[in-house]
Amino acid sequence: APPLVVAVDGPAAAGKGTLARRLAAALGLPYLDTGLLYRATGRRVLDGAADPRDPAAAEAAARALTPADLARTDLRGPEADLAASAVAAIPAVRAALLDWQRAFGRRHGAVLDGRDIGTVVFPEAPVKLFVTASAGERARRRFLELQARGAAADPAQVLAELLARDEQDSRRAVAPLVPAADAAVLDTTELDAEAAFAAAMALVRERL
Ligand code: C5P
Repeated sequence: APPLVVAVDGPAAAGKGTLARRLAAALGLPYLDTGLLYRATGRRVLDGAADPRDPAAAEAAARALTPADLARTDLRGPEADLAASAVAAIPAVRAALLDWQRAFGRRHGAVLDGRDIGTVVFPEAPVKLFVTASAGERARRRFLELQARGAAADPAQVLAELLARDEQDSRRAVAPLVPAADAAVLDTTELDAEAAFAAAMALVRERL
């Protein structure tokens, strides 16, 4: 049998990262935060003083990514969020990052979190979770996260930016944010990290 791939998709600030990391540890699998690839691509474009919506600049940035780009400390925050979502709408960028994500997952199996893991990157994954929560709850979590990092944030603005990014990610023509037909939907609005992990592990066991 091929090594196990677990796909964890969903909108921004739904708790995918925390959950996917814990699943990976519990299952003994490598973890890949695929959002980092788009964030790092967006950052490289901004470094070159180009527009993240410019297809040629964004594709060149995606093809030039190095491990050091993924380790940058400026990949989180409103500017990086928007640049990531902009480059992520460009088909040539997604194509440039696809093989790398597939190779990562095929090597030893993996838990990958993103937007299109269950639909595009690993449509054959035996376990697919679509993790979501109400917009208000996701904005609350993102606000607390920003506060904890000492970043000034306005709750109304955090909510507005979250909704704008979800809208852009859901409406794009290529690999839009949508649950795979065979994904298990996990709504974490009323769940803390521990309860979300327990519910996810139950769904994983059901599918193995
Ligand atoms: O998950 P995260 O919020 O870090 O992702 C940042 C952006 O990267 C998303 O808003 C989305 O536009 C893009 N993305 C994507 N496909 C993925 C992961 C992230 O389009 N698999």
